[in-house]
Amino acid sequence: MSESYSHAETLGKIIRGRRSIKPGQFSGEIIADEAISFILDSARWAPTHALTQPWRFTVISSEGILRFADFMQATYQEQTPPDKFNVLKYEKLGNSLKTCSHIILIGMKRQDIQKLPEWEELAAVSSAVQNMQLMATALDVACYWSSGGVSTHKAMLPWLNLSENDKALGMLLMGKSDVEPSVPERKPIDYYTNFIDK
Ligand SMILES: Cc1cc2nc3c(=O)[nH]c(=O)nc-3n(C[C@H](O)[C@H](O)[C@H](O)COP(=O)(O)O)c2cc1C
Repeated sequence: MSESYSHAETLGKIIRGRRSIKPGQFSGEIIADEAISFILDSARWAPTHALTQPWRFTVISSEGILRFADFMQATYQEQTPPDKFNVLKYEKLGNSLKTCSHIILIGMKRQDIQKLPEWEELAAVSSAVQNMQLMATALDVACYWSSGGVSTHKAMLPWLNLSENDKALGMLLMGKSDVEPSVPERKPIDYYTNFIDK
């Protein structure tokens, strides 16, 4: 097998092996700082039109997680009309965050001149997050991209040092896990691809 196919096999294994693993499946073990650095470094190699590099992250760990969980619960309570407020959801929100080793908040910084359409900046952030998820898989770090709770709400922007024109895009909830996740089925190539050769 040529060298490039051997690289492809290694990368394919990581791509196929990436799974969304949730806090309920985390062991409580803390992720090493070095692994977090590898994951953050992988983000900046994502493609980015005009090199705007619009991704912004805030890494929360240790006692920061307790403060963040309190904030998420309080914001959920503030933003939810009393008749829609669900106490189980409120409690689950706090408990699941507190099970994490690290939480990486995901943001998009809009250029002041807004030369690029917003979708291109969102696409660049998504590419960066995928790099991080793949690096996490390679390092045996469990994570998943959550847009739950109030993680995309404007109230998140100060946590990301961002302002009104920018966006909060959820969070990577991270931990270590021994659970073997089930593999959600994927459609075949022909389902999502047109081939034109004439
Ligand atoms: C932008 C984005 C936001 C997501 N938000 C949530 C979420 O809030 N809750 C959730 O259960 N899964 C969320 N997911 C993860 C998907 O549920 C998951 O990717 C899907 O079930 C496929 O499983 P897999 O990632 O293990 O292949 C999100 C994924 C993406 C890309």
